[in-house]
Amino acid sequence: MGCVSLLLVLVCAVSVCAVRGLDKLNMCMDAKHHKTEPGQEGALYSQCSPWSSNACCRANTTEEAHADNSNLYNFNWNHCGIMADRCKKHFIQDTCFYECSPHLGPWIQQVDQSWRKERILDVPLCLEDCETWFSDCRDSFTCKQDWHTGWDWTEGINKCPAGATCRTFAEVFVSAKTMCEVIWSNSYRYTTLKKSSGRCMQLWFEGPTNPNLEVARSYLNHAPSQAIAMATTLLLPLLLSLLHAGISF
Ligand SMILES: *[C@@H]1O[C@H](CO)[C@@H](O)[C@H](O)[C@H]1NC(C)=O
Repeated sequence: MGCVSLLLVLVCAVSVCAVRGLDKLNMCMDAKHHKTEPGQEGALYSQCSPWSSNACCRANTTEEAHADNSNLYNFNWNHCGIMADRCKKHFIQDTCFYECSPHLGPWIQQVDQSWRKERILDVPLCLEDCETWFSDCRDSFTCKQDWHTGWDWTEGINKCPAGATCRTFAEVFVSAKTMCEVIWSNSYRYTTLKKSSGRCMQLWFEGPTNPNLEVARSYLNHAPSQAIAMATTLLLPLLLSLLHAGISF
């Protein structure tokens, strides 16, 4: 009888793991503007349109994502003079990716922040997306490496803190790796993986199919907790048959 209860508990645990695993492939983080569930949107604005078939963002969020000093976070791209359009388009894409992606589950972490309960950490970016972002921004100006913290917000938008001088991205960050990883306090992880690898997340892709679903799936299948769930799933029938054999004898 004890064995049967133990088995029941095991079976339940495995099914809970499996269900949560599925959710992690298609979910929205608990943050400032995200919908509670991903779903189709009629038409998302401009650069965010590839996410229209399944998105965590609403149309109005994507429109704001394209505006200077948008009301999303009151964040000012032009804190060291006007940011070049070829640079700004990467920040718009980054905003679309952050607000709209339904496939960031494997990298979502709880945080204790006033404006959100969850964040992303170490999302592996494709080499092309990080390198073009940096090369298109090399000659634009900023005064800080980490854009999440340390701004002067006294006037309602982010201004450079006292003592921080405006220099080019090339001077401030030096490398694409530092820029991609430090700018949003490790939301992203630099990789040397190409888009064709299917093992890195793409900021830029052509809709309507989102290639990041399969990337998330492969990461989830390689995660340690998932490995344990898989092993249990595979071992369970063996355990059951052994038990059955034991009872028969
Ligand atoms: C978008 O519209 C929804 C209501 O449909 C509203 O709750 C939300 O605050 C709006 N978001 C922005 C960024 O304006």
